[in-house]
Amino acid sequence: MKLLEVKNVKKYFPVQKGFIEQLITKEKEYVKAVDDVSFDIIKGEVLGLAGESGSGKTTMGRLCVRLIDPTEGSINFDGKDIAALTGDELRRIRQKVQFTFQDPSSSLNPRLSIGDAISDALKFQDIGTPEERKDATIEVLEKVGLSPAYTFYDRRPHQLSGGQKQRVVFGRAIILNPEFVVTDEPVAMVDVSIKAQLLELMLDLKRDLDLTYLFISHDLATARHVCDRIAIMYLGKLIEIADRNQIYEDPLHPYTEGLMSAIPVPDPKIRKTEKIPRGEIPSPINPPSGCRFHPRCPKAFDRCSVEEPLLKDAENGRHVACHLYGN
Ligand SMILES: Nc1ncnc2c1ncn2[C@@H]1O[C@H](COP(=O)(O)OP(=O)(O)OP(=O)(O)O)[C@@H](O)[C@H]1O
Ligand SMILES: [Mg+2]
Repeated sequence: MKLLEVKNVKKYFPVQKGFIEQLITKEKEYVKAVDDVSFDIIKGEVLGLAGESGSGKTTMGRLCVRLIDPTEGSINFDGKDIAALTGDELRRIRQKVQFTFQDPSSSLNPRLSIGDAISDALKFQDIGTPEERKDATIEVLEKVGLSPAYTFYDRRPHQLSGGQKQRVVFGRAIILNPEFVVTDEPVAMVDVSIKAQLLELMLDLKRDLDLTYLFISHDLATARHVCDRIAIMYLGKLIEIADRNQIYEDPLHPYTEGLMSAIPVPDPKIRKTEKIPRGEIPSPINPPSGCRFHPRCPKAFDRCSVEEPLLKDAENGRHVACHLYGN
């Protein structure tokens, strides 16, 4: 069952220009952060969203929970366009969908205790008495592994380690009993050993609370451990989406292939031939014509610079936007 349906979504940010620049170039320019993207999220799955820095992952995630509104297109949650919701309906959605920010340190208010950081979510939704909110927060602290909870309740963020802060961030996301959580690079800032524990926590929470995740990560080695399917973005476009095993073992898009070949392997005897795409990532203000990846693509041919490849059914439910496939 589809929980979230993203259809032809665009998010263009106007480029801020200086006064003189505005006089010289009259035309408004836009950063095409997300440019005509469509995909579904199935209830109960972990969908990974990967791609290089600046490809539009965070913007896409924020759109999915209506932290920002799309320039064009629709995002349906449980069959309803979230951009059109107002009043009580919007409030209900704010409870059902949650977002955890890329950097836990900057997303936690240093002046707020851990307990308040979590229970404020209930307060904003006008749920419970102060005592009930405290009880619920204590329960959540235990659930995210900050135990014994009462010893954490009054602490400030600076008294916690990076891993513990991330646990608080998860706690704040689950206290409203959501159905869908977007986690933006949840383990990017912690050591390998902590990373594994946090990923395990994420999966435990998913099982216990019946969650669906959009897991944003530029780190494909990590995404492999938790995701059921993976979607790859490049310069605002979705270029491939497939089951985890398909995408790791048999990537179709040359860009995906390049990303996969760059994943480090633990065994030093195995030498991989890296197919890291050549060149710099072009600007999302004036992206290349045709396929946005063509200037860096080792397999590009004439058609790629003139015609944009659309995301198409390739085989076995996998989709790819590349002229090499499906004609
Ligand atoms: N509020 C904004 N105003 C203007 N431009 C923005 C804004 N937010 C994002 N962008 C631009 O949109 C593009 C996509 O940014 P986004 O943060 O979504 O990428 P990302 O894939 O999450 O990157 P990273 O891996 O570095 O987190 C970038 O070029 C970025 O500079
Ligand atoms: Mg980001």
